[in-house]
Amino acid sequence: MANESTQQTAAEIIALENQVILQTYKRAPFVFERGEGVTLYDTNGKAYLDFAAGIAVNALGYADPEVQAAIEDQAKKLIHVSNLFHTRPQVELAQLLVEKSFADRVFLCNSGTEAIEAAIKFSRKWARTHHPENEQKYEIVSFTGAFHGRTMGALAVTPRESYQAPFRPLMPGVATGKFNDLDSAAQVIGPNTAAVIVEPVQGEGGINSATKEFLQGLRRLCDQNQAALIFDEIQCGLGRTGLLWAHEGLGVTPDLMTLAKPLANGLPIGAVLMTNAVAEVMKPGDHGSTFAANPLVTHVATVVFRRISDPRFLAHVCDVGGYLGESLHRLREQYPAMIHEIRGRGLIWGIDLGVPAADVIQQGYAQGLVTINAGEKVLRLVPPLVITRKNVDTLVEKLGLIFTQMEVVK
Ligand SMILES: Cc1ncc(COP(=O)(O)O)c(C=O)c1O
Repeated sequence: MANESTQQTAAEIIALENQVILQTYKRAPFVFERGEGVTLYDTNGKAYLDFAAGIAVNALGYADPEVQAAIEDQAKKLIHVSNLFHTRPQVELAQLLVEKSFADRVFLCNSGTEAIEAAIKFSRKWARTHHPENEQKYEIVSFTGAFHGRTMGALAVTPRESYQAPFRPLMPGVATGKFNDLDSAAQVIGPNTAAVIVEPVQGEGGINSATKEFLQGLRRLCDQNQAALIFDEIQCGLGRTGLLWAHEGLGVTPDLMTLAKPLANGLPIGAVLMTNAVAEVMKPGDHGSTFAANPLVTHVATVVFRRISDPRFLAHVCDVGGYLGESLHRLREQYPAMIHEIRGRGLIWGIDLGVPAADVIQQGYAQGLVTINAGEKVLRLVPPLVITRKNVDTLVEKLGLIFTQMEVVK
């Protein structure tokens, strides 16, 4: 191991990053080295309270002993053999996901965007199989403000001009409806629709919850037009809202649901959960992935999913989430000129600043606080689900300091 004198400094690492890494990210001006609980430490030993969780990934925080043990145990046994062979952890995970959801079957992959690609392929084949008479039945409908990923299929259903423009032509057969507007949805969903994809709570789009009426209306429109309903719960699912699934309690279930981010607490994984009606059209050879669902990642995901789906864990998310919501609304009363609107539930919240969030994020770094944006103007709070009320108090203190400073500058 390199000693102090031979280790690169943060400035050197950042300079080198600038030379050798493709510049697709604007990264923060420091280098993270380790994490513990809900705290991250940079190479200078500075501590940061983490309200980003690696973009809604590290649900159990950092250095969780059970996650560490799961990685170690499985790494000693078997990391990868490919999907040509059976392994126990993959089946254990799928069984749990099926038991705790609407779904009958699961497809496992490596990321959120891959789960979206798979869901698009499955629903297109499902529509084609059941409607061979309609060669046009391949359209996918998504909504304004949606974010479903960066690969070509997911990008096509992510209607943001700056993301799409450089990469046209996109996958054809995509229509966009207005989020939370059933009349608009009814105009774009029709006999040629194969699937409708929606986030029950939009993440990147600015933390916007779909209304119960909207999701129920989409279910109706899908049924009327024999189209599949896909819920993208990659960001809002798996306990983030305080319920295991964000669509729970809304009286509507999808035909497919995509998951990813927190499922293995930071190891790459994605999943598509589906009904048997969808599953039965897929045959060996229709889809696949070399790395997907390897024993290491699925064993860790099983451990993580057992923890997250425990009612006591979800009750904790509801409790701290409710407290976070109340605290943010109080903060808004204190800083009405800085905070435009507060949106969210559970532990997914957006502070709509009405101005670019980048300044607040930068000042957060100085205060030892990590947050991210959702779109340009919304400060997004998606902390590890294990945060405490005390962590919330610290967050509010730090944000208060930042807003006070900004008010003075204004
Ligand atoms: C709702 C939603 N869908 C899909 C994705 C894409 O996931 P990934 O970045 O793992 O490809 C994201 C990522 O932020 C997301 O929030």
